[in-house]
Amino acid sequence: MELALGVLGEAIGRQSLAASRTAGERMVVLLGRTWVVQADVYSPACSPSTEISTAALPYPAGGRLLEIGSGCGITAVHGLLHGLAAAVAVDVSPAAVANTRLNAEVHGVAERLTVVCGSVFEPLDADDRFDVVFWNAPFIEVADDHVHDGVLSTSYFDPGLRGMRAFVSGVRSRLTSGGRAFLGLDDIGGRAALCDVAAEHGWRLRVAACETAPRRAVLAGMAVETDVDHLLLELVVDDSAAGLVEPRSGGWDERPACSVDRR
Ligand SMILES: C[S@@+](CC[C@H](N)C(=O)[O-])C[C@H]1O[C@@H](n2cnc3c(N)ncnc32)[C@H](O)[C@@H]1O
Repeated sequence: MELALGVLGEAIGRQSLAASRTAGERMVVLLGRTWVVQADVYSPACSPSTEISTAALPYPAGGRLLEIGSGCGITAVHGLLHGLAAAVAVDVSPAAVANTRLNAEVHGVAERLTVVCGSVFEPLDADDRFDVVFWNAPFIEVADDHVHDGVLSTSYFDPGLRGMRAFVSGVRSRLTSGGRAFLGLDDIGGRAALCDVAAEHGWRLRVAACETAPRRAVLAGMAVETDVDHLLLELVVDDSAAGLVEPRSGGWDERPACSVDRR
């Protein structure tokens, strides 16, 4: 079952990547606003995950957000329009960095958003701390020696979960006292590996929001449909918190009902 999900996840990722490649620049309406999505940048229309996470994240009034992997910039910009004082957006893709800057200008928050190119926490100053840290992560685990075929591939595939490991291992030192860390992802295999990485670094994963939607892929010439959970997970130290994600063998399907306000 784990293997089948992994294979299916890779097929879904390959097909989403191929569709995004041919899409070119387009406008996407999400959360009541229009966003420019440029060529070679992850499209928030290819999965509900951007919308679910962006709607459910906390944006403390006067606080600071760090968004890793900002793509076209929707979450950071939305947060700045909903209470945050400032935000930093990091993306490994120069195309995403330019696109985040563009949407920040379009929505009038450019002077409060710093956008930098680099991997996970690498571009930050050593003492930079945030009230909320978030990554809608490229959650499809592929072999460690997988070679990305173009920069857009980094939106979908994380070879050996290297990006995820860097996030989970480094996020604690990026939080203010009382700061909160979140991951957004589509659960199409690899959840047990994520739980293991989180546990290695003293985190448990709490389901902050979840919506399930059917997803189709072509696998070995056959159309396959499966239900995919689109999740916002909070990294929590206290393992008495409700709604913890457990490995599939231990209460995998139990989660709290979540409602997401998409205004
Ligand atoms: C699933 S997309 C999400 C984009 C955007 N946040 C959204 O929700 O629409 C993942 C993003 O992470 C970026 N990314 C991948 N690996 C990264 C890394 N090691 N460091 C920073 N960004 C990375 C990709 O370029 C991509 O923009």
